Amino acid sequence: MAEEKKWVLMVTAQTPTNIAVIKYWGKRDEVRILPINDSISVTLDPDHLCTLTTVAVSPSFDRDRMWLNGKEISLSGSRYQNCLREIRSRGDDVEDEVKGIKIEKKDWETLHLHIASYNNFPTAAGLASSAAGFACLVFSLAKLMNVNEDQSQLSAIARQGSGSACRSLFGGFVKWNMGNKEDGSDSVAVQLADEKHWGDLVIIVAVVSSREKETSSTSGMRESVETSLLLQHRAKDVVPMRILQMEEAIKNRDFTSFAKLTCADSNQFHAVCMDTSPPIFYMNDTSHRIISLVEKWNRKAGTPEIAYTFDAGPNAVLIAKSRKVAVELMQGLLYCFPPKSDTDMKSYVIGDTSIVKEAGLEGREVPQEIKDKIGSQDQKGEVSYFICSRPGKGPVVLQDQTQALLHPQTGLPK
Ligand code: DP6
Repeated sequence: MAEEKKWVLMVTAQTPTNIAVIKYWGKRDEVRILPINDSISVTLDPDHLCTLTTVAVSPSFDRDRMWLNGKEISLSGSRYQNCLREIRSRGDDVEDEVKGIKIEKKDWETLHLHIASYNNFPTAAGLASSAAGFACLVFSLAKLMNVNEDQSQLSAIARQGSGSACRSLFGGFVKWNMGNKEDGSDSVAVQLADEKHWGDLVIIVAVVSSREKETSSTSGMRESVETSLLLQHRAKDVVPMRILQMEEAIKNRDFTSFAKLTCADSNQFHAVCMDTSPPIFYMNDTSHRIISLVEKWNRKAGTPEIAYTFDAGPNAVLIAKSRKVAVELMQGLLYCFPPKSDTDMKSYVIGDTSIVKEAGLEGREVPQEIKDKIGSQDQKGEVSYFICSRPGKGPVVLQDQTQALLHPQTGLPK
C-alpha cells in the first residue's frame, strides 16, 4: 500500500431501478434473503429513474461511512454489513500508477470506505429505491476493488442488501432464479433479453399520493409467509407456470400474453396481501381507478394494449405496447388526472417528455375518442406526477469525474 496517507481512490456508477412483472413476495431464508419463488422484472431507463453512487477508499478514512441523498446514515444494519463483508472478501490487487497507489488484496479488510448515494427521483415518491441503491453499492464497490466476478455473482451479493436489488444488475428483462442451495449461491439474477430486444414498450409511472404510512415490503412479506395460504398456493402452483409463460412472451415480444400475465400477477400479489393477517392494503382508490381505466381501455381495444402492475404501494406502473398507445394513454391519463391549477405540465410529467409533446397536450384538449375509451371524469390532484420511461440498460461506471458525489481530495460529500 502506498505510504502517503493523502490519496483517495474513487469510482462513480449509475444503476437502474426495476419493476417486477412476476413478483417476488416471500422469503425462505430471512438472513440470506432467499425467495420462495422466481421473479421477472423490466429494468427502467436510468436516465429517468436511477441511483448514482460514488465509493471511495483512502488510508486517511478512520471508519466506513455512508451518505444517502446528502444525509449521513448508519451502516451498522446487517444488510449493509453483509454486502460490505461479501464484497471486501472478493477484493483484488489494485494499482493506479499515475496516482502512485498500490492496494493489495489483503488491504481491503482493513481499509475504510466512504459511500455517497443519490436517487435521481424524489424519495418521497415511494418508488423502490432500495433495489437500485444496493445494486449500485455492490456494483461500484466491485469496480473499486477490482472484484473479478460476473454480474450474476454480484447479483447474489446485492440480493443480501434487498432481494429485488439483484435484478438491477442487468438491463432489459431479468429473471431472479430462486435457487435451491442453502447458502444461496444459486439464487442469482440472469438477463433474459437486453433493453433493445423490445424497444417499442413505453413505461409510465403514476406516482400516487398516499396518506398512510405503508407496511414495508420486508415485514409485509414476512407476515404473508406466516399467515397466507394463498401465498403457499401462489409460490408452489402458480408462479412456476407463469415464469415459463412470461419468458416465452418476452422472447416472442407477445404483448397480449405479457400484459395478461403482468396484470394477473400484480392482482394476485395484492390478493395475497389481503389474505395476510392482518390484511395489508397497498393500493388505494386512485390505484383502483387506474386499474379500471386500463381494463376498460383494453376491452375497447379488443386486445391488451396496456399492462399495469403495482408494488408495495399505491403507485401504478403502466406498460404501453407502443409509442402510439403511450401517447394516447398519456392523453387519457391527463384527462382523468389533470394537474392542480398551480402545477405546470413540466413538473407534472417528467422523464421522457417527448410523449407529452407528441400528445399535443399543451392546451390539454383531449380527443373525444380517448374520452370514450376511458369515460371518466376529473380526479384532480390524486396523482402527484407521472414519469415516462422505457426499458433501459444495466449499471455503468461514469467516467466523468465531475459527476462524483465525493470530493476527490477529501473523500467527503461535495
Ligand atoms: C413488491 O426487495 O423491497 O417490489 O428483500 O425484504 O428488501 P426485501 O424486499 P424488497 O421487495 C420487493 C417486493 C416487490 C416485488 C418485487 O420487486 O419483485
